[in-house]
Amino acid sequence: MQMVCGEHDYELLQAQSHVWNHIFSFINSMSLKCAIQLCIPDVIHNHGKPMTLTQLVTALPVHPSKTIFVYRLMRILAHSGFFTLTKTGENDEEEEYVYGLTTSSQLLLKDNSLSARPFLMAMLDPVLTTPWNHLCSWFQNGEYSTPFDIAHGMKFWEYAACKPNINHLFNEAMASDARLVISVVIEKCEHVFKGLKSLIDVGGGTGTMAKAFVKAFPHVECTVFDLPHVVSNMQSHENLKYVAGNMFDVIPSADAILLKSILHDWNDEECVKILKKCKEAVTSTGKTGKVIIIDILFEKKDRDYKSTETQLFFDMLMMVLLTGKERDEREWAKLFLDAGFTRYEVNPILGVRSLIELYP
Ligand SMILES: C[S@@+](CC[C@H](N)C(=O)[O-])C[C@H]1O[C@@H](n2cnc3c(N)ncnc32)[C@H](O)[C@@H]1O
Repeated sequence: MQMVCGEHDYELLQAQSHVWNHIFSFINSMSLKCAIQLCIPDVIHNHGKPMTLTQLVTALPVHPSKTIFVYRLMRILAHSGFFTLTKTGENDEEEEYVYGLTTSSQLLLKDNSLSARPFLMAMLDPVLTTPWNHLCSWFQNGEYSTPFDIAHGMKFWEYAACKPNINHLFNEAMASDARLVISVVIEKCEHVFKGLKSLIDVGGGTGTMAKAFVKAFPHVECTVFDLPHVVSNMQSHENLKYVAGNMFDVIPSADAILLKSILHDWNDEECVKILKKCKEAVTSTGKTGKVIIIDILFEKKDRDYKSTETQLFFDMLMMVLLTGKERDEREWAKLFLDAGFTRYEVNPILGVRSLIELYP
């Protein structure tokens, strides 16, 4: 169909802008990554107050021939809410603009204990972005389980096991997310952990959640259960243990199992297998413990455009890197039923994610 300009010019040009905006969406991520690599938020933070462009440029590790370009990087990132741009000075002649931090750029500071910087650096590493170039051939080919497999010739967890730098980058990314999540969970969901004597963080990475957990609940014995390449060098102490294993084989018994960002990594069949192993672990020796899941639960209402888009990004990410997906309540409920659980409660307390308590 040929589209003709005329009274539909406005819609046509809007459509062109929409298309261009999508084509260039990667520029948002790449500009942000560059600003983080140049430590721009840290430089402004260390200055103690918003900075003029001249002050910023002087403090940044950029080549003298490139200083004239810095304002352009700052302009797009101010537009997308990572920096404030405020006018100072009494009159127009003295008018000056200063760049300040926003809550989002504060969350990317190196020495913010809740920093999302490691998450950004891992997710935008070429090893994780290259598979996107294979998405179309993955759709057209029955041989590979994920675009990641096409790009790298093996599954994501196998790749992490044989590439120590990616293993480290990924574990740091997850640890940075875990620090933020556990701080909210401990504050808002203390009741979830009431009465527990033991907890196993299955796929618990390098133990960030577990460490914070035993600090907040010292009477609980906590075990981090993960693949050997993740936990074999970790030191167990007092009520925090590290156990290497495969959750598809056997999960040690405990009052509760934590599954944070685990089930969305796997397809339905795999999830039912994991959940059945969890059920065995929390019901062995006659106990009726519970499984605590932290993951996205898609809702139809009450979500703003950006949060829904973030959830959809994660869903696509799970398809490209792993065999997983994000699920709505109906899909979650089916998994629970198929794995033999009888009851669940959803606590939508973690932004785009929820905490789900699941009972045998
Ligand atoms: C997305 S990360 C989540 C890490 C941690 N739960 C968090 O949210 O910070 C998934 C974790 O599952 C682990 N994992 C993958 N396959 C596993 C398996 N078969 N058995 C045990 N852990 C596994 C990975 O090594 C990784 O640490």
